Amino acid sequence: MAKELLKGKKGIIFGALDENSIAWKTALQAHAEGAEIVLTNAPVALRMGKINELAEKIGAKVIPADATSNEDLEKLITESMEILGGKLDFILHSIGMSPNVRKGKDYGDLNHDWMHKTLDISAMSFHRLLQTAEKLDAMKEWGSILALSYIAAQRTFPDYSDMANAKALLESIARSYGYRFAKKSKVRVNTISQSPTMTTAGTGVTGFDVFFDYADKMSPLGNASGESCADYIIMMFSDYTRMVTMQNLMHDGGFSSSGITEEIVEELTKGK
Ligand SMILES: NC(=O)c1ccc[n+]([C@@H]2O[C@H](COP(=O)([O-])OP(=O)(O)OC[C@H]3O[C@@H](n4cnc5c(N)ncnc54)[C@H](O)[C@@H]3O)[C@@H](O)[C@H]2O)c1
Repeated sequence: MAKELLKGKKGIIFGALDENSIAWKTALQAHAEGAEIVLTNAPVALRMGKINELAEKIGAKVIPADATSNEDLEKLITESMEILGGKLDFILHSIGMSPNVRKGKDYGDLNHDWMHKTLDISAMSFHRLLQTAEKLDAMKEWGSILALSYIAAQRTFPDYSDMANAKALLESIARSYGYRFAKKSKVRVNTISQSPTMTTAGTGVTGFDVFFDYADKMSPLGNASGESCADYIIMMFSDYTRMVTMQNLMHDGGFSSSGITEEIVEELTKGK
């Protein structure tokens, strides 16, 4: 399927933990399309995950960075430009974590120190990244920066807890910074709102299996897979989407526009 859509382009991909990660699939696809990449993840994830396996496959360097540290981000972007030999064409922010979700805290009983962490890791880190990229003048004109979101930013999914609040903030940052970056250097900033996907972050949400099946039945095309999300990301990094910015782009097999489907009716009719 590779068409060299990213030939000559250079960028940073955050968040490849293992082969299920959306970032992992994106890195493979971006490499196949001709991109040169630097991979990064939190230091603890580098120790526990398999990122070196991926790095070897695609001939990429790995630089550790905690996305909540401005210092780490500065070092990452500076070193990436040295390794890749110039400014960047694309960045993927594929990062999410909520200690409250991980520890099964009810939304009415949140630990607010943990909520700070959720917002910092899953949303504010995107602002830190954009601000650092701007200060270091790291992006080429017509570059593309993306983060991954979920429809819980617009609609309530009770078990998604404070991650829903983080995603709403993330999407808002994409709009605010998208304006600034477009005016300053014609760089586009967007979020992709992805279907439930079987990854470490996804399956950490209580009842994820049911959630996944429900979304699959509520989407006329079915759930969008991690691979198809990677395809969409490649298109958003390519020159074919140069005028798309400040958007939250639904990548969900039609879920967000469906009221009900035959599959759900069938399910609810069972046993009546
Ligand atoms: N899986 C889903 O159902 C789903 C649906 C919609 C959106 N998303 C979003 O997609 C993105 C990628 O998640 P995924 O599903 O591929 O899961 P994943 O668990 O493979 O990836 C999450 C990544 O975040 C990284 N991370 C956590 N804390 C960090 C920190 N402080 N600094 C740097 N990195 C840190 C982890 O190490 C991990 O690599 C997330 O933003 C997630 O919310 C996932």
